[in-house]
Amino acid sequence: MTPDDRPPVPINATDEDPPLFYKRHVFVCTNERPPDHPRGCCKAKGSVELRDYMKMRAKELGLKDVRINNAGCLERCELGPSVVVYPEGVWYSPKTRADMDEILQRHLVEGGRATRLMLRPGDDPPKPEKKKD
Ligand code: FES
Repeated sequence: MTPDDRPPVPINATDEDPPLFYKRHVFVCTNERPPDHPRGCCKAKGSVELRDYMKMRAKELGLKDVRINNAGCLERCELGPSVVVYPEGVWYSPKTRADMDEILQRHLVEGGRATRLMLRPGDDPPKPEKKKD
């Protein structure tokens, strides 16, 4: 059984749910913040160029059932550029075009995972310190 043979993620799924409109939906954070913002932002780490590259390559690969969209902040800013693929809910942190190629090939074409680039639950960004009164 390959990952593509598995049933959809069962969380809150009902028999009344329509079939998926896209087989996979990829969200690429392109949020921009001022350069001195303590959390940084994905745009400053090249996410717009990476998104454009992924869209171009997905088209070249003929991935008609995959949609690649901009996203606002996904709240994992320090670990960005942040990318998440649904319906699996797998998060990635690609830094280069080669990383995007790996996600495209391993996840979107083959249905596997680009494990080297995956974000894990323990990779959550540090919480900002609360100001003391
Ligand atoms: S700026 Fe991209 S996750 Fe927050």
